Amino acid sequence: MRDADMLNNIALRIEKLTPEELQLLSRWYDFFWNMMESHHAAEDDLLFRAVEERMEQPSEIIEEMEVEHNRIQFLIDEIRRLIGELKRSAGEASICRELQLNTDGLVKVFQAHIMKEEKYILEKMTAHFTVNEQRRMENRVKRKAPVRYLSFMIPWLHDSLSEEENKILDQSLPWPVRLMNHYFWKDRYARLVNPMKALLELQHSQLSKV
Ligand SMILES: [Fe+2]
Repeated sequence: MRDADMLNNIALRIEKLTPEELQLLSRWYDFFWNMMESHHAAEDDLLFRAVEERMEQPSEIIEEMEVEHNRIQFLIDEIRRLIGELKRSAGEASICRELQLNTDGLVKVFQAHIMKEEKYILEKMTAHFTVNEQRRMENRVKRKAPVRYLSFMIPWLHDSLSEEENKILDQSLPWPVRLMNHYFWKDRYARLVNPMKALLELQHSQLSKV
């Protein structure tokens, strides 16, 4: 959600981005696109199937959530296409507008979807799975991240958690992972995401001057 919000805010001033900034956006977006695609596939293939199996019947809400995944994936693909077109067309206004509509749409569908999914899955997981099974399932879904982005997973998670949650995450990581993260992964992820954060900060400072 934080990534979709970040994207939507950057899209607000998409026509002002330099070709270099657009290139950085497209690099970061490839990461986002890959993560989302494999995350939804993991939910559809593993999580939803396991819940339905335990319930011993198909669930209408799961069907709805799968439709939402398709809608989200469609928007995510569209945005990727539009970013590509923008790079080629040197920021054409109609493409900028289309991109804004799509990122705005993505935030809205995403928000509603996540709220529904969190509530429903939590309810069903608690009712039908032991605590250990829940943890195992969570790990299986997480591990479905695309291999080339595995090293981004830990810093990406770090970025979205509170200080307290981060402490818990760190304690759960084996020491080689913590070490790799500290010396390599953190910086690689930072190189990908920091230019996006810088764009947002620039935007905030410009807005506050108005
Ligand atoms: Fe989902």
